[in-house]
Amino acid sequence: MSKHPLFADWHPASWRGRPAAQQPHYADPDALARTIEVLGRLPPLVVSWEIEALRAKLAAAERGEQFLLQGGDCAESFDDCESDNIARRLKILLQMSLVLLQGLKKPVIRVGRFAGQYAKPRSADTETRDGVTLPCYRGDNVNRPGFTPPERAPDPELLLRGYERASLTLNFVRALIDGGFADLHHPEYWDLGFLRHTPLREAYQGIVDSIAESLEFFESMSGQRVHAATRCEFYTSHEGLHLAFEQAQTRYIARQQRWYNLSTHMPWIGMRTAALDGAHVEYFRGIANPIGVKVGAGMSAEWLQELVSTLNPQQIPGRLTLIHRFGSKHVEQRLPEMIAAVRATGARVLWVCDPMHGNTETTAGGLKTRRFENILAEVEAAFRIHEDCGSTLGGVHVELTGEDVTECVGGARGLREADLARAYRSAVDPRLNAEQSLELAMRIAQRVRSERQRGARNIK
Ligand code: PEP
Ligand code: CO
Repeated sequence: MSKHPLFADWHPASWRGRPAAQQPHYADPDALARTIEVLGRLPPLVVSWEIEALRAKLAAAERGEQFLLQGGDCAESFDDCESDNIARRLKILLQMSLVLLQGLKKPVIRVGRFAGQYAKPRSADTETRDGVTLPCYRGDNVNRPGFTPPERAPDPELLLRGYERASLTLNFVRALIDGGFADLHHPEYWDLGFLRHTPLREAYQGIVDSIAESLEFFESMSGQRVHAATRCEFYTSHEGLHLAFEQAQTRYIARQQRWYNLSTHMPWIGMRTAALDGAHVEYFRGIANPIGVKVGAGMSAEWLQELVSTLNPQQIPGRLTLIHRFGSKHVEQRLPEMIAAVRATGARVLWVCDPMHGNTETTAGGLKTRRFENILAEVEAAFRIHEDCGSTLGGVHVELTGEDVTECVGGARGLREADLARAYRSAVDPRLNAEQSLELAMRIAQRVRSERQRGARNIK
């Protein structure tokens, strides 16, 4: 159906001719096929004009005019699909975006890692405990985290349960936003308890007051209430990992004359599935959504250049976001060559820093954690390196939760390794808790503000 010569040999199932990494093994492939058939008939979760609106914003971020805040759980869980948990995730993302807006002085694009972040890549196919080997947990869309054979068996029905929960999540998010939950006039809607007794309280209140003052000033000058700028949208994203599932949501939109993945606004390709000749790159190259690609230490500059030209041959603005995740130890050494490599292709991309996945470590007690200081150090280094290379860091990609968990060490409250067991809930990667997330946003905003002041002094 796609007439463009670049896509003449592409269709939503063309990935099936390539090696597909990280796919679950279903005992009954016919049951999977039946489920995919059902999924393919269900209405979409998002529509193409929303996707295009996001792409236009990401194009503005590429030009340095907006900033992307992408965040949420490493893996959403079906159990957490309940109102309080969803509202708390929105609240912390809204608080962070408020702080970033005030510090960066540019619109913040909010993209949740939610409403479908249910499939996970894993380093091994199986897990062994006390001599028992079972399939690894691959996210709630595939199987369950409990270590028993029935829980670990991939079950196609879960894809339907996941689609329904994604839809419930998105429905609730949309209703909250439509009801004015994200209105900058009412940051008190986003109160998350911890604000009353956090060391960050005064600084946050200062930011809220300054925004209120600016709104008041603008509104009294113009005689109008600022609506357009204060009722921001939320977009969704998830790792496009389970290709049969993603294919089921891929629809041809005649008006746009392109294929779209309508299960999310912005799917991304993970580090483990970015092989050039692999099935994921084949699938992603044909969909019109803005897409992300994780860029890690294992990737060469040539590989990245090939990805850029394969995934955005028409150089469509806002199409390609490169989410680098080198870790604070490697970012200095690896990022400059990657920036240079992409520049050499002549293509424009949006550069985003994921300071989480290159900074994972395991404690002596066997818990996966990340140090706040390393997370912050990587983001700060990324800002500086992009500046030094004449490029722009246009966003951050963070694993976080609105809950008071203890999964990452450090931060204003100085969480230590010994504290982690208290409220460690993640089934996969450790997330920043609400307070640590807000602190990260504040430190980014502070840094940008002081750079701006330094720049202004130098001009004088
Ligand atoms: C993730 O984002 O949860 C993830 C697995 O990231 P990466 O592909 O960068 O390892
Ligand atoms: Co993760």
